[in-house]
Amino acid sequence: MDTTNMSLADFAHVADRDIMQRAALFREYREDFFNRRHLQYKRVALDGSAPVRRVIDPYTGEIREMIYLAGNDYLNLTQHPRVVAAGKEALEKYGAGAGSVPLLGGTLDIHIELEKKLARFKCCQSVIIYTSGFGSNAGTLLALLQKEDVAVLDMYVHASIIDGCQNTNVKFFRHNDMDSLEKTLKRVKDSYRTKLVAVDGVYSMDGDIAKLDEIVEMAKHYGAYVMVDEAHATGVIGKNGRGTPEHCNVEGKVDIVAGTLSKALGGVGGFIASNEDLVALLHFYSRSYMFSTAMTPQAAGSLIAALDVIETEPDIRARLWDNINYFRENLLALGFDLGNAETAIFPIIIGDGYKVREVCRYLHERNIYVNPVLFPAVPKRATRIRMSLMANHTKEQLDTVLNALEDADKLFGITERYKTKSVKKSLV
Ligand SMILES: Cc1ncc(COP(=O)(O)O)c(C=O)c1O
Repeated sequence: MDTTNMSLADFAHVADRDIMQRAALFREYREDFFNRRHLQYKRVALDGSAPVRRVIDPYTGEIREMIYLAGNDYLNLTQHPRVVAAGKEALEKYGAGAGSVPLLGGTLDIHIELEKKLARFKCCQSVIIYTSGFGSNAGTLLALLQKEDVAVLDMYVHASIIDGCQNTNVKFFRHNDMDSLEKTLKRVKDSYRTKLVAVDGVYSMDGDIAKLDEIVEMAKHYGAYVMVDEAHATGVIGKNGRGTPEHCNVEGKVDIVAGTLSKALGGVGGFIASNEDLVALLHFYSRSYMFSTAMTPQAAGSLIAALDVIETEPDIRARLWDNINYFRENLLALGFDLGNAETAIFPIIIGDGYKVREVCRYLHERNIYVNPVLFPAVPKRATRIRMSLMANHTKEQLDTVLNALEDADKLFGITERYKTKSVKKSLV
């Protein structure tokens, strides 16, 4: 199989193949990717999340020391001594697992402590925690929205939100475009029981920030509720790291604040912060909560400590922002198109899937760990390399990455493409 112009979309549905035949066909795709050294997914690390990691090279089996720009552990709290110690303590005290689902015997006092701490941090009445951010978004929307309702979604919202809208009607508006949102809200105004606008606070592939203040105001005007997914915003934006509502000055005004516990908080799980009644409804109707074993005590213990660190050690976030500003300035000076990125996520938009694969192969060989983002994850014209920063990346490490990107540009003509007529800048 020649995968030069192929993508995952080609195997999402294959009309004349049963499941095993489809899997076998997909193997041919993976093999061609591997033979071209383009298979950069699921590389195996030998140590924990950190700015430099020991990674097994999938092609040679050798161990590479790689500068790691592929995580969401923005503050590197996965390794913070207080976070690790609190997890160990909870493990010793409660054991390895919670033992049951939350409603039927699995709820521990440490879960309640985490929920209360999150509610305070997110300026909401109440919080429910889940074992994954995907499960909390999808499970919440599946429980809340029915056929009489409508979800009004930013077209770049996370997959967990889209998957959560399977029981309801969905209208998309153009990414972060307030005119498009208003048009959509006008169209759905009188036709549905509940109207819920759902956006990401910080977009995972673009690193830009939702205009949450405008969204909240507009939604209110049209009688809609607002849900914001704070996965990549918590711990990163807002004066105190409390996320997009703090950044946009609308704390306490967002109906449903969702988030993951797996990114800047360095653990695993998800949460929904809202009013007490809505959270209580979710306890009994959200299937990914009710029918799934409660969070491990170790995760809950570590997460309580991680929230403490965010509140008491603001210098870690300041170091992250110092890195963001430094990296951004230098990438722009080299002529790269970063779209509208303004947080710790850096897309370098290339707009040619095969070139993205080649550049990522080259960077892997230079011991730089980044991710290719290809169609259908993003539109073909906006395929990109995705990089993300940590507070403890050193300037020297960032310079090494910048030098490699400059060399990649010379070899593959990345910025050259922006000058051709068919590729406009800021394609996102
Ligand atoms: C915006 C966004 N929401 C939700 C999720 C799901 O979170 P989790 O990895 O905790 O399941 C992710 C990420 O991976 C994400 O990027």
